[in-house]
Amino acid sequence: MRNMLVTGGCGFIGSNFVRYLLEESDFTGRIVNVDKLTYAGNPENLAGLEERFPGRYVFEQGDICDGPFIESVFSDHGIDCVCHFAAESHVDRSIVAPDAFIRTNIVGTFTLLEQARAHSGQVRLFHHISTDEVYGSLGREGAFTESTPYCPSSPYSASKASSDHLVRAYHTTYGLPVTLSNCSNNYGPYQFPEKLIPLMVLNACEGRPLPIYGDGRQVRDWLYVRDHCRAIWAIMKEGRRGATYNIGGNQEMKNLALVERICDILEEERPQGNGVPYRSLIRFVKDRPGHDLRYAMDFTRLRTELGWGPEESLDTGLRKTVRWYLEHSNWIHCVRSGEYRRWVSAQYG
Ligand code: NAD
Ligand code: TYD
Repeated sequence: MRNMLVTGGCGFIGSNFVRYLLEESDFTGRIVNVDKLTYAGNPENLAGLEERFPGRYVFEQGDICDGPFIESVFSDHGIDCVCHFAAESHVDRSIVAPDAFIRTNIVGTFTLLEQARAHSGQVRLFHHISTDEVYGSLGREGAFTESTPYCPSSPYSASKASSDHLVRAYHTTYGLPVTLSNCSNNYGPYQFPEKLIPLMVLNACEGRPLPIYGDGRQVRDWLYVRDHCRAIWAIMKEGRRGATYNIGGNQEMKNLALVERICDILEEERPQGNGVPYRSLIRFVKDRPGHDLRYAMDFTRLRTELGWGPEESLDTGLRKTVRWYLEHSNWIHCVRSGEYRRWVSAQYG
């Protein structure tokens, strides 16, 4: 793997992955980051990498649905492997406006697969990033395995399920060397503040309400983003071609308990000093339509085949993350000066 195309590298997980590859991993090749820079993409996330790693990081702004553009990226840069993150990623937005999800997540993945197929002589791996949400919702017990049937609930998860099927079909039909990973909820630095954890930290700091959808008893399994990046790189290097790997954090928590925990960390890290506890900002709002009750991942395959396990507990990871947001007011300013106006949460309120 000498010339890696990373799609969506200016987003949350993609930018953490690019940094991980260049700063921490044994990858010695070059990264070509293709990103359209939607509201969720922020070049600030990768500021300074060109200078720090000369010749090893290139940014190409563009749309993964644009076939001729993607063709030129494969040809001009001699792309020999792909790590595909680019997606519309927020469930709430997919409920309000699904169009972009169908386009980017399905048509965009298809466009990349077609170009990988057209350059099959040079492409040694296509790694596809997906989500636990394709499996649908769990009851209080059990966990998803790689053979759990797909049963997506939202336009977001349905579009990701569709893209997963396309990636597998290109392996089965055309012999494209692929790997797939489906992971649980990520958290950590550079996450756009529409997702639960950064939204709560920022709202709390401003004394704004902390909206809990429904009764807050939904459970998510939280995966620290650096652990996710380690897993992706392990799969790209040593995963079986054609195989899917589940990635989980082994850190399940109900939403309400998680938000309360964030409030408690903020009391320690940034006490308000006005006698009003952060927890008093919590508000129960109208539930998300089709809200999945619980996700949990069985990642036995990844552990037994590749020896991967999460290193970060939710306790340590959450504190690190809260501190990161408290210390990066400039990043928050840059992100907020874009289109995002927290309109989705407001709609449910
Ligand atoms: P994100 O929304 O933070 O970033 C997405 C990036 O893709 C942005 O930089 C955006 O500009 C870019 N992008 C969007 N449409 C594009 C297009 N048409 N062409 C080129 N670039 C485009 O998302 P994220 O949270 O970093 O998620 C990355 C991947 O991981 C996604 O595929 C998502 O489905 C998957 N995933 C995320 C989570 C999570 O908790 N965040 C969990 C499971 C799976
Ligand atoms: P989110 O971060 O949007 O991730 P996902 O929907 O992909 O799991 O939401 C995580 C959980 O938090 C989910 O159960 C919805 C809930 N949630 C709230 O209760 N309030 C909020 O303001 C947000 C954004 C999410």
